[in-house]
Parts: sequence; C-alpha cells; structure tokens
Amino acid sequence: MRKPIIAGNWKMNLTLKDAVAFAEEVKGTVPASSKVDAAVCAPSVFLAHLTEATAGTDLKIGAQNMYDQESGAFTGEISPVMLKELGVTYVVLGHSERREYFGETDAFINSKTKKAFEHGIVPIVCVGETLEEREGGKFESVIREQTTNSLKGLTVDQVKNLVVAYEPVWAIGTGKSATEQDAQDSCKFVRDVIAAEFGTEAAEAVRIQYGGSVKPDNIKEYMAQPDIDGALVGGASLETGSFLKLLEAI
Ligand code: G3P
Repeated sequence: MRKPIIAGNWKMNLTLKDAVAFAEEVKGTVPASSKVDAAVCAPSVFLAHLTEATAGTDLKIGAQNMYDQESGAFTGEISPVMLKELGVTYVVLGHSERREYFGETDAFINSKTKKAFEHGIVPIVCVGETLEEREGGKFESVIREQTTNSLKGLTVDQVKNLVVAYEPVWAIGTGKSATEQDAQDSCKFVRDVIAAEFGTEAAEAVRIQYGGSVKPDNIKEYMAQPDIDGALVGGASLETGSFLKLLEAI
C-alpha cells in the first residue's frame, strides 16, 4: 500500500512570522504518521526557521526548488547540500511555474532530481499539460515526454521513493479543478509510463499526487481514486484550517 502524501506548496506567499506561526500550530496536530505524510514546501528564506520549529514532529518541510550543483559560483542559487544541512525532507522540482517563467527544461529537472537523491532529499517532480496541449490532443505525448525525460537514468529504487505530482496547468490557481475521473486517468497514465520505463514494481510503489485547485471540499473524491496518492496544494495550504482539513480527510 502506498502511503498518501499531502504537501502544501506555498509558492511566493506568507511572511516569516506567518510561516512560523503556521508550523507551530500545525506540527502538533498532524495525524499519525502511519496514515499520511504531511509537508509544507516553503520559500527558501523560511526553511531554516521551519525545520527548527518542526524538528522531531510529523510535519516535514520541503523546498520549492534547488540547483543541481553542490557549491560554486552560481549567484542566487541554493544547493542540495544547503537544503540537507537545514533538515529539509522534500524538494519540488519542475513545477509548471518554473518551466514557464524560468525556462526549466526536462533535462535540467532530471539533473536536479538525481542530485536531490544523491543528497537524501525526496524530489516531488511535477508534470502537467497546458489547456492548449490538452485540447490539441497532445496530453499523452506531453506527459510521456515530461515524465520519461525528467526521470531518465534513475534507478528502480529511486523511482520507488520518488513523488510525482501531476498538475494540469489549466487547473492551477484557477479554481477549475480536474474532475476526479480526469485526474485518475491522468495519474494512471503517468503510472503506466513509469511502468514501461522502470517496471511494474517501481510503478506500483511510486506515489503520484494530483495538484490543481485541491481544497477541503474536493480532496476526498481525489483520494478515493486508485492511482491518486495525495495532493500538491497551493492556495488551500496557506491557512492552517484548510491544510488540517485536507489531512483529516485522508
Ligand atoms: O503546486 C501546487 C499548485 O500548483 C496548485 O495550486 O492553488 O491550484 O492549489 P492551487
């Protein structure tokens, strides 16, 4: 059985004060770790404070990005070594906002994914099609390409420990969530692609999240689907009340 994972992606929101207050409130109330993995992926300047505030609890902390080198002359970048030193558990890689606004390619995402594993950080690798691609009948080719290229060269064991977030771009921050059947079919497609590349054992173990306008009132429908193992949540993860409701729904 795959353990569900609910991860908040705060994006470029909240203040340090709000973020620490969130962690203080939520850390003691996350449900038993045997039922669900819970994490918030925060802006990098908050990470040290958050890992300190949540140390030893079941609320884990993730980063929203990292570079694929350990150190060096890369002004403005943050390395996996730095994240590890802070006690970060997860890193979101290849979010569609990074692909769109910062030109991230599958090859770069692949390199960062490998680096995250090298340093014991669990990558949450995002894939997803735009509305234009979906309506143009390109869903399968786009998702196959993103998944295959972003995961290229990983070992079966790494794939088993990976988290993939399927986030259709048209459902992100729009309030226009995918139907549970569409989300299920898409996550199943990602799993099938992984099975073809890495074998059934890896595909059965990898956790696949749905992301895109997930809220307390629709999480249950998604979680009832056999190939959806959790959610990557933007807007609804910014407040403790709705974040806790998402966890409680599992
Ligand atoms: O990574 C989470 C995300 O892109 C979805 O955002 O606000 O639609 O839940 P939101």
